[in-house]
This record gives sequence, structure tokens and C-alpha cells, in this order.
Amino acid sequence: MRLQGKIAIVTGGSRGIGRAIVELFAAEGARVAVVYRGQRDAAEQVVQGIQQRGGQAKAYQVDVSDWAAVKNCVEQVLTDWGQIDILVNNAGVIQDGLFLQMEPEAWYRVMQTNLNGTFHFCRAVVETMFRRRQGRVINISSVAAERANRGQTNYAASKGAINAFTRALAVELASRNITVNAIAPGFIETDMTQAVRNVAGEQIQKAIPMRRLGKPEDVAKVALFLASDDSGYITGQVITVDGGLSLGGISA
Ligand SMILES: NC(=O)c1ccc[n+]([C@@H]2O[C@H](COP(=O)([O-])OP(=O)(O)OC[C@H]3O[C@@H](n4cnc5c(N)ncnc54)[C@H](OP(=O)(O)O)[C@@H]3O)[C@@H](O)[C@H]2O)c1
Repeated sequence: MRLQGKIAIVTGGSRGIGRAIVELFAAEGARVAVVYRGQRDAAEQVVQGIQQRGGQAKAYQVDVSDWAAVKNCVEQVLTDWGQIDILVNNAGVIQDGLFLQMEPEAWYRVMQTNLNGTFHFCRAVVETMFRRRQGRVINISSVAAERANRGQTNYAASKGAINAFTRALAVELASRNITVNAIAPGFIETDMTQAVRNVAGEQIQKAIPMRRLGKPEDVAKVALFLASDDSGYITGQVITVDGGLSLGGISA
């Protein structure tokens, strides 16, 4: 059990990559706060599954873009469990569109969720880690931060900013034994990529040197490493998990 006795918050824990992280952390002994925005049934299902397997988890309904709600949630987790050891900022959205057709609302929504949501949870949680002189922050970025697709100016900007934020925060917190790292997934099989997979599934697979899309568990295993004692001397890094997609080689 690599996370025995640890308390973790995972935003966007009701589905996709976040759900895989929640389930792996709980299987490794952590008590996990599962933050979701709207799909209560999905979040409760994750929590019940963990409890049936003898683990501990609790669902918290919070919109990560709402600072007051985030502060309340963190206070509630501290009341419920007394400490926070691990924070995974995973909640994220896409709202793609070519730049000249992009309404400001699509820009604001993606920034509010992906970037401001990450800031909100860090701002609310890091203080308690700072006092205890220990902590792990893991931000879920994307390969799109470095190699954007058409129609993703908002998403790429939000993820590029998360990478920069990760490095800057890591510098500030390192002396307190708090590590801050990011994971940049490639194409992972989740609801988020369903539409593009429906249209271009085979093409995507061909562009990936490992010839398969990623699974949420591929990302969760790296999150576990970054949350565990094994990664204690790694901070400010962005770890790519994409089967080689971003290497840019031409696939035959
Ligand atoms: N899938 C990929 O290929 C891929 C690639 C690179 C990076 N990523 C990143 O990985 C992360 C997870 O993606 P995913 O594919 O697992 O997405 P997903 O299947 O669409 O799940 C998104 C999760 O985020 C939650 N969420 C969305 N907006 C929220 C908000 N404002 N407040 C609180 N929770 C919110 C959702 O909650 P509800 O269930 O309540 O809606 C859900 O749990 C995102 O940051 C994404 O950008 C994904």
C-alpha cells in the first residue's frame, strides 16, 4: 500500500482519467475526496465501488471555477479527515473552435475551469501542506500545451499556462518538502475524446508510435508514482504520457 494513511483530493474524479486516479489511490490505501461538478450519480458510483472494496472515499460537488465553493470544499475535507497530503488538479474541459469563430465565452469557460480551477485548489490547499512541511501537487496538463491541434487556442493556452504555473509553484514550495509536478497525457480513451475518436479513431492510432490510444489507467499509474514517496526528489516537471505521440516521427 503506497498511499496508506494519506488523504487525497482529486478534482474531476467522477469520470475518465480522474476516476482512474481516484480508484488507484484508494486501492493503495488513500482516503480520497472525489470532486465533481454535475454528474452526481457517476461520482456516487465511484465512491460506492471503492467502499465495497474496503476503501474510503467521499464525493464533493464543487465547480472548480468558483473560488468560494473551492474554499468551502477544502475546509470540509479538513473537517472530515483532518489533513490533505495529495492534490490532483484533473478537472478540465474542452470547447474547441477555430479562432475566428471562437466566442469569448468559450475562451473564458476553458480558462476558468482548467487554469483558474487549478489555481483555486492550489491556493486553498497549499497553506495546510506548507504548515505540515509535506505535500504532493499533481496538475493534469496535456500534450496540446506544446503541440496544439487546430481549433484549440483556448485549451492549448490553458494547458501551457498550467505547465508554467507548475514550474513556478514548484520553486516556491520545494524548501517545504512539497513537490509540484504535471502530467501531459496524449490521446486517452475518455468521454472528452469520444467525438474526435468517432471521426478519426484509426488516423489517431496511426499517428501514435505505440499504435494504441492511452487508457485512463496509463495516466493514473504515473499520478500514483508522483503522489508516492518514490518521487520525493522530483519537482517542477511535466511528464508526458502519450505512447510517443508528441515525438513527431512520421508513422508508416
Ligand atoms: N482524454 C484525453 O485524451 C486527455 C488528454 C490530455 C489531457 N487531458 C486532461 O485530463 C483531464 C481529465 O480529462 P478526461 O478526459 O478524463 O475528461 P472527462 O472524461 O470529460 O471528465 C472530466 C471530469 O472533470 C469534471 N469537471 C469538468 N468541469 C468541472 C468543473 N468546472 N468543476 C469540477 N469538475 C469539473 C467532470 O465532472 P462531472 O462528471 O460532474 O461533469 C469530470 O469528472 C482534463 O484536465 C483534460 O484536459 C485529457
